[in-house]
Amino acid sequence: MSKIHAAITAVHGYVPDYVLTNKELETLVDTNDEWITTRTGIKERRILKGEGLGTSDLAVPAVEALLKKRGITANEIDLIIFCTTTPDRVFPATANILAEKIGAKEAWGFDLQAACSGFLFGLATGSQFIESGKHKKVLVIGGDKMSSITNYKDRATCIIFGDGAGAVLLEPNDEGNGIIDSILKSDGVGVPYLHQKAGGSIRPASHETVDADEHFAYQEGQAVFKFAVTNMADVAAEVMEKNNLQSEDIAWLVPHQANKRIIDATANRTGVSPEKVIINIERYGNTTNGTIPLCLWEWESKFKKGDNLILAAFGGGFTWGSIYLKWAY
Ligand SMILES: CC(C)(COP(=O)(O)OP(=O)(O)OC[C@H]1O[C@@H](n2cnc3c(N)ncnc32)[C@H](O)[C@@H]1OP(=O)(O)O)[C@@H](O)C(=O)NCCC(=O)NCCS
Repeated sequence: MSKIHAAITAVHGYVPDYVLTNKELETLVDTNDEWITTRTGIKERRILKGEGLGTSDLAVPAVEALLKKRGITANEIDLIIFCTTTPDRVFPATANILAEKIGAKEAWGFDLQAACSGFLFGLATGSQFIESGKHKKVLVIGGDKMSSITNYKDRATCIIFGDGAGAVLLEPNDEGNGIIDSILKSDGVGVPYLHQKAGGSIRPASHETVDADEHFAYQEGQAVFKFAVTNMADVAAEVMEKNNLQSEDIAWLVPHQANKRIIDATANRTGVSPEKVIINIERYGNTTNGTIPLCLWEWESKFKKGDNLILAAFGGGFTWGSIYLKWAY
């Protein structure tokens, strides 16, 4: 009997309507379109507007469209893994909130926090339940309402982040397609460079923390850049070497969209030619857990069964990793 792999059998994404352009950011902080474009590659990002809306509201339209596309009901889902850094609430898990909103009554679920690498960690985790035979349908969502933790007075961070979510369905595949291999890493050395200062158990919310802007994402951009540019490129090359893949064997490189310069470095290191590198950072910025599933969604129609895809990410923690998968449809 051939090995069962966990294959992506459907994908969908959602970005909110409001477009925050570089021009509008020029009215909020001391920046300009030319600086943002050359340093990051970002032109605009999407923002979820409206009282009482959270990350689960970004996921609902993505998941509902995915279920419709695959022709299944929410009750057929066994497990929901919601990868997010901006959960609706500290607790309960956004996976539970989403399950209620989409009407998934038979699923269990949990949130997974690995910053920008979360979606890859979620895919690797979900795939284990498929490969073991425990589950038949696992929903992995990557989504963030980054605008909820972005300080629009801090020009070093507010130009980067945007809101969005994507979802994939994992199902068993016995044709040799699906998730073939992954290399995933975490290193707490990254804590000082990228974190949220307050709101957790070591520094609960208070008037003082709010006044000091401590509930926003704090980033030392240059330090993060240095780690990201080498680690994301190296881990993508490592997963290729481990699986005897040459650059010409790769149909698509799907990098986390944090900075166009980090994406270019990953493409150079792996030798994958520019037309095979998926990039939508100019339209969405860094949606944290949303970037990779949004890329898969937008490029879905170009993928062919058996295509070799290399997914790569780097994020706060630090966390980073790469997944090799063969597209299944
Ligand atoms: C954040 C980031 C875009 C900043 O780019 P950078 O080239 O490192 O820029 P620096 O921080 O060195 O700043 C260079 C100069 O531009 C200025 N600057 C910073 N933000 C600016 C902005 N939005 N507009 C104009 N100038 C800006 C700085 O003040 C600095 O000025 P100085 O030289 O007079 O001190 C970049 O560091 C980055 O992408 N880091 C990694 C981000 C990342 O991957 N994060 C998440 C992991 S998923």
